[in-house]
Amino acid sequence: MRLDILTLFPAICAGPLGESMMKRARESGKVDVRIHNLRDWATDKHRTTDDMPFGGGQGMVMKPEPIFAAVEELRTPEARVLLLTPQGSVFKQATAHRLAAEAHLIFICGHYEGVDHRVVEALVDEEVSIGDYVLTNGALAAAVVADAVIRLLPGVLGDDRSAVEESFSHGLLEAPHYTRPAEFRGQRVPDVLLGGNHAAIAKWRAEQGMARTRRNRPDLLG
Ligand code: ADE
Repeated sequence: MRLDILTLFPAICAGPLGESMMKRARESGKVDVRIHNLRDWATDKHRTTDDMPFGGGQGMVMKPEPIFAAVEELRTPEARVLLLTPQGSVFKQATAHRLAAEAHLIFICGHYEGVDHRVVEALVDEEVSIGDYVLTNGALAAAVVADAVIRLLPGVLGDDRSAVEESFSHGLLEAPHYTRPAEFRGQRVPDVLLGGNHAAIAKWRAEQGMARTRRNRPDLLG
């Protein structure tokens, strides 16, 4: 997969996508991540990327020209273009699985009060939000979406099963995990996990996952 990220703050994306599994995925060629400074496509002397909103109101709006120029230069016939914005539809694990099947993604990171809407109309295939809160710009959101998608690419996770068994793949939260020691400050690991009865362990995990979902995310149960 190729992923182009267009942002006014490349360093915000470069950090998270330059460590650990993301770093290894890039170095091994499983994903080709290119982080671009949108300002490189601004043409005036001050490399302006924003302007006042028509109709008045607070804040600045990102100008269309640099975004159009960048996307037109970077896009391939397979490219799917996303705008990261709190106005988007909420990113879910299912979205990550769908995007992981794409050959080329282009992320446009919104900033200021928004992006000139002609960008959305003419260039963007989908608007994506990472949740019901407002960040100062879309670069952090782009790094979040990129991480969730890249870890699903074949060979990126050490053990491909862990992408299948994790939270949300079955619409429920995971059961608690434990490691050694079996007793720590008076808290014991549940006996069932120490016993080696795999059917009993699977049953316990299913019950715990359900109880946790009921407690922390009743919305998932409908
Ligand atoms: N930009 C600002 N807030 C955002 C959010 N919640 N999701 C995606 N992009 C954003």
